[in-house]
This record gives sequence, C-alpha cells and structure tokens, in this order.
Amino acid sequence: MSLGIVILAAGQGARMKSSLPKVLHTLGDRALLQHVIDTARRMDPARIVVVYGHGGERVRDAIPGDDLVWAEQAEQLGTGHAVVQAMPDLEDVDQVLVLYGDVPLITEATLQRLMACAGDGFGLLTVTLDDPSGYGRVEREEGGEVRCIVEQKDASDEQLSICEVNTGIMLLPRNRLQDWLGRLGNDNAQGEYYLTDVLAMAVGEGMSVAVAQPDNPVEAEGVNNKLQLAALERALQRRQAEALMRDGLTLRDPSRFDLRGRLTHGQDCVLDVNVVIEGEVVLGEGVQVGANTVLRNCTVHDGVQILENCVIEEAEIGRESRVGPFSRLRSGARLLGNNHVGNFVEIKKSEVGEGSKVNHLTYIGDSGIGTGVNIGAGTITCNYDGANKHRTIIGDNAFIGSNAALVAPVRIGEGATIGAGSVIGKDAPAGQLTLTRARQVTIEGWQRPTKQKN
Ligand code: UD1
Ligand code: CA
Repeated sequence: MSLGIVILAAGQGARMKSSLPKVLHTLGDRALLQHVIDTARRMDPARIVVVYGHGGERVRDAIPGDDLVWAEQAEQLGTGHAVVQAMPDLEDVDQVLVLYGDVPLITEATLQRLMACAGDGFGLLTVTLDDPSGYGRVEREEGGEVRCIVEQKDASDEQLSICEVNTGIMLLPRNRLQDWLGRLGNDNAQGEYYLTDVLAMAVGEGMSVAVAQPDNPVEAEGVNNKLQLAALERALQRRQAEALMRDGLTLRDPSRFDLRGRLTHGQDCVLDVNVVIEGEVVLGEGVQVGANTVLRNCTVHDGVQILENCVIEEAEIGRESRVGPFSRLRSGARLLGNNHVGNFVEIKKSEVGEGSKVNHLTYIGDSGIGTGVNIGAGTITCNYDGANKHRTIIGDNAFIGSNAALVAPVRIGEGATIGAGSVIGKDAPAGQLTLTRARQVTIEGWQRPTKQKN
C-alpha cells in the first residue's frame, strides 16, 4: 500500500503579526514546516505534497528537498479546497495522510499508530481537551462510532460541549477522497470548503472511521500566535532534553537548557543551567559546561571543563583543557589539548599547541602557537594592518610577557622570551630575551603639581 502525504501550509497566519510566513517561524533551529516535513519523511511515503499559498516563493525557497512537490493554493478557500490542489500529484497512491504545516510536534510513532488502526480505511487523529474551544468537535453515535465533525462556528450548544476534537490529521483512501472532494460545498458559517465534511460522506457510505490519539496532546497543538510558538518551543526543548537525559547526559536543570541543532555526547557530561547549544555540537566523555555558556558548531574533547559565561563558536577544544570563565573562541580556534584559556580571552583562526596557556585579557588571531607556550596577560596579536590579515607564529615553549603587542607578520622563536610591554614588529630569535622598552628612569627632586590659589 503506498502512502502520499499532504502538508497544508497555505494559511496566512495573520495572528503572528509578522512579515514572515507563519510556517517559516522556527522551533529550535528549524522552521515549523521543516519539522513536519522531517517527520513526514520518516514515514517513508511515496510522495510529499506541500500546499502553499501565502508567501509562496519565500516558503519554497526556505525549504530544501528535491523530493517535495509544491502545490499552489492561490486563494485560501478552506482545508478541503487545499487538499484538492494536491490531488493531481497523488494519483498513484492508495492512502493520503493530511498533516498541517503549523502543527510541528506530531511524532512518527503517533502517525504509525493511526496508520496501523486505519489500514486501508478512514483514520482520524483526535484529542480530548478540557477546553475544546476553537476546534472541530468529533460527534459520535450512541454506540461510539464517529458520525461527523462539526466546526466550532457551525456547532449547536450540545455539540459545543463535546471535548473530543479533530486534530486535523487524517488518513484517507485516495480513490474515495477524489469523489468526496468533488461533492464538498461551502454552505457553512465560514463559507469554506471543509475537509472535515468528507468524514460524514465516508460514514454515509457505510465506512467506519478508525480513531487514534497522540501519546501527548501537545503533538496536535498548532501555532497561531507568538504565545503558542513559545509554548511549543518549551515542549520541544523538554522533549529533546528528556531524550538526552535518557541517553545519559546530566542537565542540572532541563528547563534551563536549549538545543537548537544536534548534540552528540559521550558518557558523564554535565551541563549547568542556561547552556545553549546551536548547530552541530560534539562533546567527548566527561565534559563539563558551566552556566550561561553558548556552544555553536564546535567539538569538545574528553575531560574538558568549560567554566561559566563562555561563547564557543566553530571551534575545537582539545582534551583535558580548561576554558573560561568569560572566554570567547571564534571560528577556526583549535586548542590541541591540555590548554588553559581564561577570562576575557578571544581566540580566532589560530592553533594553540598542547599544554599552552592563554589565561587573561588577550586577543589571539591568525596565529600558530606551539606547545608549552605561556601567553601573558594583555597580549595582543596585531593581525590586521587596516587592509590585510597577517599571521603570528610562536614557537614551542616561548614565554610572552604581559601586555605585549605582536605586530604580524611576525615570528617568535622556540623558547624565546618577550619582555612585558613590548611592541614586537620583527622576528624574535629562539632562546633569547627580546624586548622593546624605554629604559626606566627616576627624576630626582621631581614634585607633583599643586593646585593654584586664585
Ligand atoms: C481545522 C479543522 C478543525 C480542527 C482544526 C485543528 C477544518 C474545516 N477544520 O480548523 O476541525 O479542529 O483544524 O487545528 O478542516 N489551510 C490551507 N488552506 C486553506 C485553509 C487552511 O492550507 O484554505 C491550512 C492552514 O495553513 C493550516 C491548516 O490548513 O495549516 C488548518 O487551517 P486552519 O484555518 O487553522 O483550520 P481551523 O479553522 O483551525
Ligand atoms: Ca479556518
């Protein structure tokens, strides 16, 4: 039996009060619609058709994938009308699964269950809510069989008291659907072609409707405004945090952890509160991350300790290193292992050899630093001449005194020592002390000025 999936994403989303089409707002690092597409793909369908309308080209451009078929719904005349637009692309499938582009947290497990109970018949995903207002109500016969779905705006008082609602997610036999859609009218309170009306047609033909419910009602929640977006963001974060904790990650407080991308980790990693992970982040074994730290597209090897308030981006931290508090590693920073990087240190596009230390108030850019080097407080590699960037090379076991300015391009030889406060613009030889410093003098008899009386 082959499956076609239709994702309805033509709605405008006026209540988002945004110029961005609703389905492009993000949860985690992905657009709402991308979440639905990713889940749809895991169902291994023969086809995925996305019905788009409002902000059409922007939506298409933002969502990659040669496997996607895009069907335009120029005017939003209702969910039934939306599915009509997808039908020409579904002629070769047996079952049609309808998903919503703004219902991002639906899971593969729930959809599999719906498919299993519906077989080649009609399947409906419902939830039972304490407050069903706004949703279509699921009306059942005395015996329990589903009879029809009534939209809120068309419902009688009695129907309004029903708490089981339509999530909108349905599984439909394609050959019958074609005919039902052709018979839809829009004689209802909203003047729309309701997809929900096909259910009563199926029942009228003697078909029974199989009903499934999601494991967690949040799976069926839609995003219509920024409040709902924020609520589903929390739900997504909770879901991700729980999966990571089940996998052995220690989160000091899962409600103060945000993952916007993918995190892989070894055993015994501990993340303190307010750690934000973005992009692809890899942690080795026994990594500790202090509070208020952002890790973005980086690799952190075994036994590393990242202290509080660091920003680590496009960087690699070698094993057993200690970074922070208040360190910033930027793109191309590579610590090769056993390094110490301390407060107010920024490192960009530089390699720092095994065991080297950069402990305080320093900028290292476009540099190659050997092993066992000590970079004193306040050292600056002056890598930019106003037009071009140049490299600084520092040999093994060099010692750079505090507040040195290394004006690139420049080389500091192995085992060299640079005197504190020096401006080094020429290569410094290995094994020797190099410094540029005015001789210290003391002026005999000098006195501080005194305030003049007037
Ligand atoms: C719909 C269901 C309702 C259900 C609710 C669940 C119908 C008639 N009603 O109501 O029973 O409880 O969803 O959230 O189906 N869309 C289009 N083109 C259109 C209209 C809608 O693509 O012409 C898309 C929207 O972008 C959205 C989805 O379909 O993703 C649902 O549309 P929406 O207007 O939110 O449906 P509701 O009126 O809430
Ligand atoms: Ca509507």
